[in-house]
Amino acid sequence: MSHYVVTGGAGFIGSAIVRRLLQEGAGRVVVIDNLLTGRESNLEEVRASIDFQRADIRNYEEIAALIRGAAVVFHEAAIPSVPRSIDDPVPSHEINIDGTFNVLRAAREGGAGRVVYAASSSAYGDTEVLPKVETMNPRPKSPYALQKLVGEYYCNVFSGVYGVETVSLRYFNVYGPRQDPSSPYSGVLSVFMKAILERRSPTIFGDGEQSRDFTYVDDVAELNLKAARAKNVAGKTINAGNGGRITLNQAWALLQAIEGVEIPALYGPPRAGDVRDSQADTTTAVRELGHAPRFSFEEGMRLTLEWYRRTVCFSLPGD
Ligand code: UD1
Repeated sequence: MSHYVVTGGAGFIGSAIVRRLLQEGAGRVVVIDNLLTGRESNLEEVRASIDFQRADIRNYEEIAALIRGAAVVFHEAAIPSVPRSIDDPVPSHEINIDGTFNVLRAAREGGAGRVVYAASSSAYGDTEVLPKVETMNPRPKSPYALQKLVGEYYCNVFSGVYGVETVSLRYFNVYGPRQDPSSPYSGVLSVFMKAILERRSPTIFGDGEQSRDFTYVDDVAELNLKAARAKNVAGKTINAGNGGRITLNQAWALLQAIEGVEIPALYGPPRAGDVRDSQADTTTAVRELGHAPRFSFEEGMRLTLEWYRRTVCFSLPGD
């Protein structure tokens, strides 16, 4: 029986895909993760139903046998974060580019059926027009954005040259349960959630009027499964976003309203490599994949906040 592989399957997005696969009755799910940014606790309640393999995508030999014969490889393993790629570009280059090459090579040599790749909306950079559509010229502004774009191009080339079926999903600022709020490189909404639960001000880099198409993690997991099944999509790049646009000031205001508190944010200098505005054109995703996001921003924020409240240990004022 052929199996599914999720690289980075112990991570925030990878573990959501693992759960979704199991819900759909996938027989064998192999998780490849080096636990650099992933955590086994993200897979706690499904641990007995998966084949967890601690392996590193930088090491071809370690992953080739695991990928051989897979029906679909969901390639989520990466070092995320724009600022992290600026501060420390070597590991992110090696994992995001060389690691992706290894996954594609293993898929080709092992006859895998399809690779669904976690690409990034950061590839667009600053565009004159919103929403951002797949036909626009990419303008990466950071090592991370460039690395993710190179991975996408590699997918495209492996599809055209070697006939490996690949689909690249350009994720737009994914958020939700299990996003780690504790690192200086954490996604902004996880940082906001931690701050509101601890009743302290977050620091917003810039004026807070930058905007993002924040996308709930379960909608992204669903889109991955659709990309795994869709016909006539080999070699394509497709936006994986909601189509909306929320500023950081709006996001912080919503959290204050949900919690019924008033905590003004602090403001710091803008962050290097930052994109100003981001919003997905979802036409291709709807047409090719039947994309139908289920979670509004407010709903996703409420669900995520409840998860953090239940799960994460916070320090409250006076502790
Ligand atoms: C980028 C990509 C996203 C990708 C992510 C991976 C774009 C548009 N998006 O996200 O698709 O998944 O990299 O890491 O390029 N900020 C604060 N205070 C904080 C933290 C962040 O104000 O404490 C600001 C940042 O300066 C930025 C915004 O929040 O303007 C979002 O930052 P972040 O969550 O790190 O994601 P992006 O860099 O937008």
